Amino acid sequence: MDKSCINVGILGWGTVGTGVSKILMNQNSLIAKNSGTELCLKKIVKRTLPATRQGVELPMDCLTTDPAEVVDNPEIDIVVELIGGVTTAHSLIKRAIQNGKHVVTANKALLAEHGGELFQLASEHKVSLNFEASTAGGIPIIKTLQESFAGNQIHSLYGIVNGTCNYILTEMHERAVDFSDVLKVAQDKGYAEADPTLDVEGIDAAQKLILLIALAYRSNISLSQFHVEGITSITQKEIQYARELGYVIKLLAIAKLTDGNRVEARVHPTLVPERSLLANVGGAFNAVCVIGDAVGPTLFYGQGAGEMPTASAVVADVIDAAKSVQQGVSSPISQAWLAGAQAEVGVCPIDDIETRYYIRFVVADRPGVLAKIGTILGNWQISIASVIQKDPHGMETVSLVMLTHKAQEKNMKAALAEIYTLEDVKDEAQLIRIEEEVDF
Ligand code: HSE
Repeated sequence: MDKSCINVGILGWGTVGTGVSKILMNQNSLIAKNSGTELCLKKIVKRTLPATRQGVELPMDCLTTDPAEVVDNPEIDIVVELIGGVTTAHSLIKRAIQNGKHVVTANKALLAEHGGELFQLASEHKVSLNFEASTAGGIPIIKTLQESFAGNQIHSLYGIVNGTCNYILTEMHERAVDFSDVLKVAQDKGYAEADPTLDVEGIDAAQKLILLIALAYRSNISLSQFHVEGITSITQKEIQYARELGYVIKLLAIAKLTDGNRVEARVHPTLVPERSLLANVGGAFNAVCVIGDAVGPTLFYGQGAGEMPTASAVVADVIDAAKSVQQGVSSPISQAWLAGAQAEVGVCPIDDIETRYYIRFVVADRPGVLAKIGTILGNWQISIASVIQKDPHGMETVSLVMLTHKAQEKNMKAALAEIYTLEDVKDEAQLIRIEEEVDF
């Protein structure tokens, strides 16, 4: 189709929507020069009007409260969904696709839940559904997996994809403060949501992992299929002891190809070697490490959230969609997701993984306790790599901090259940998995 100007409608004029409108209005000629495509911002839907934003001058009649003026408007070629949430976004995106519009979304929760259905619909209507901004904000990781690494078998992928958790853990490392204190400061400064559950319980990172796995392994998995653990139980002791042992704690989203047709998927706090690049990704920054069979280890670093970094990714998708409009083709990204519906790559249950562990037991400081724990671990084929005794709690109890060699998760669970029956063991252990492969 030969169109001189591709018309864009935006659903939602919050933080990211504002950033997108700024780029579309203020960088229009740069976009045209760089991509050969002229984009016209026609409509923005905002729940309440009037509204203005500093640094954005919109065309007359651009703002509306009625989503139909975007999703049902024959003039609009590309719909950008930035309202978030699942239910309304889902029905508006479906309507836009059914009306033949290309769609760009930053909505990872929606795609993690309804990706299969929406990509099927997009394919039937021969339109693209692009989602670069849904994962790791401004870092172009979706396009990288889909296009730049298309000739690689992805061996593994490790992501720091939740800025809130990374900010909290960085502060805990650098300022020796407790989780709840940092969270409060983060909320006061607006870095963390008033209800931080999705972030600190690892769910946001898990939704992003679902999208990364869809592209890296052509496998559509759901949240209920894999282990998701947040950072709420990480204490200052774990931070300090990890550091003493040469590690930093990060919330990682991990995917690994295990034996040809199974993929490990998990989100949990992880000890990473302190000299590794990932260990040094601080504050609210994101990073994704991808290890491919041809390319080897790679690392992508940048801002995973925020007005302009996220808008940068959205606009890149809009430009891609504009090319789809001009060429009359749908983007290959939707095709990759669809392939996942038929793929035979299954999820490897957490019980079957093999990894090294950090374990901290709180035990009675009596002769023979270490030997009893060591015997049980040994009986379950778990070999201790090092052990230190820490922090006497009065005269009675101490922390026993152990690093293990690689062991099977199911053996670790069985060993811990047996260890908890010992009278000398006073509490549930702190168990944190270790990843050494990120140290390249
Ligand atoms: N809440 C996310 C984070 C940003 O803290 O990284 C949006 O994905």
